[in-house]
Amino acid sequence: MHSFAYRQNELFCEQTSVRKLAATHGTPLYVYSQETVARRFQDLEAALQPLDHRICYAVKANSNLAVLRVLVRLGGGFDIVSEGELRRVMAAGGDPARCVFAGVGKTEREIELALRSGVYCFNAESEAELERINRVAARLRQIAPVAVRINPNVDAHTHPKITTGTYENKFGIALEQVERVYARGARLKNLRWRGAQTHLGSQLTEVEPFELAVKKLLPLVRKLTERYGLEFFNIGGGLGIVYQPALASGAAPWWSSPAARGLLTPANYAARLKPLLAATGLKILLEPGRFIVGNAGLLVTRVEYVKQTGRKTFVIVDAGMNDLIRPAMYDAWHEIVPVTRRRGPRVSSDVVGPVCESGDYFCKDRPLPKVREGDYLALLSAGAYGFVMASNYNTRPLAAEVLVHGTRSAVVRPRQRLEEIWAAEKIPAWLR
Ligand code: LLP
Repeated sequence: MHSFAYRQNELFCEQTSVRKLAATHGTPLYVYSQETVARRFQDLEAALQPLDHRICYAVKANSNLAVLRVLVRLGGGFDIVSEGELRRVMAAGGDPARCVFAGVGKTEREIELALRSGVYCFNAESEAELERINRVAARLRQIAPVAVRINPNVDAHTHPKITTGTYENKFGIALEQVERVYARGARLKNLRWRGAQTHLGSQLTEVEPFELAVKKLLPLVRKLTERYGLEFFNIGGGLGIVYQPALASGAAPWWSSPAARGLLTPANYAARLKPLLAATGLKILLEPGRFIVGNAGLLVTRVEYVKQTGRKTFVIVDAGMNDLIRPAMYDAWHEIVPVTRRRGPRVSSDVVGPVCESGDYFCKDRPLPKVREGDYLALLSAGAYGFVMASNYNTRPLAAEVLVHGTRSAVVRPRQRLEEIWAAEKIPAWLR
């Protein structure tokens, strides 16, 4: 479920009016529902019972400290990919011993910090990385817990820019090489094989590829477990969400709506994978990001102008591709709804931002209710890969973020002040 719904034609996040939030804090504004984050985590938890498992939330999807704290409270672990993410998790009160550290480019400094902090495991993506981890661990007189990220070469049927589990991608170690790499790693004195990991890609809307990958890897994982005493099998993240009828489903979970038939849901994902995974006797780790936070956030924006050209209606809003890059980058579809609903005809509209790029659009030729200057629009399902991918392009400040909890709301990151954008920049002596 998600907690965004209309009440008497006003969009609410839980028991809080989105219009009031926008009027108070300005736009563009990210609004997150704590209840939705928690429910998504708990729904997945419930579906996975009684499997011995841990959900390691992928911090990259939304790394605001407040969001991380919600998941710390629920007992979640974390999937991190940088020193910055590790430090964020710690700043939010999270335990490094519940963190898995992924990424193809871990630096010596990052490896050292992770070892000193006591992360649960490194997901190693190359032999060179294993050697580096071994070297840093030796210097610190530690034994580093490691797993290989196994590239299963399975097509995830998702957007090419977010497919990771095929041999065309830079990620992981090819299935055929994995046994040799474990054998080699076993000879490195400061490594200990703790598990095996895989990840197929993001926004997978079918269970099939997950099932295929797990079935493909299980014999190997069994063999490695016998040889090296593995403790866990990490099946990665990638669980897709429904972007399209997000609001229509209202208070009911989207997966109970007819539009979701045949799509991946916590129930069918768990039902198909649990028997396979339980048979391993291993602890099962998961790294969902988008599934937990995607539908839990929206981006509110204000209409600046409505521009009619010969053939088109452009709704020019105050949020741009620097605030939410997904449409420009992945042709992503985000539902756009008025914050205050009025009766009236729909107009085929392009909702565009103020950034000087043709790619700066949120939708094209979409029938939307007629709007005028000053109206607020909400871009739904912007909780994942929204704010975290924002930039200062066009010297636009980073948007503010608000977390809602029932009737309460708090700014969990204030709007960036303009001067902060260039505060660290310097004019060199020869130009003064
Ligand atoms: N684990 C690994 C190793 C990953 O690379 C990722 C995402 C995840 C877990 C979490 O995936 P999720 O459950 O959120 O699908 N910016 C793109 C998505 C990039 C995903 C990168 N890796 C977007 O906006 O669609």
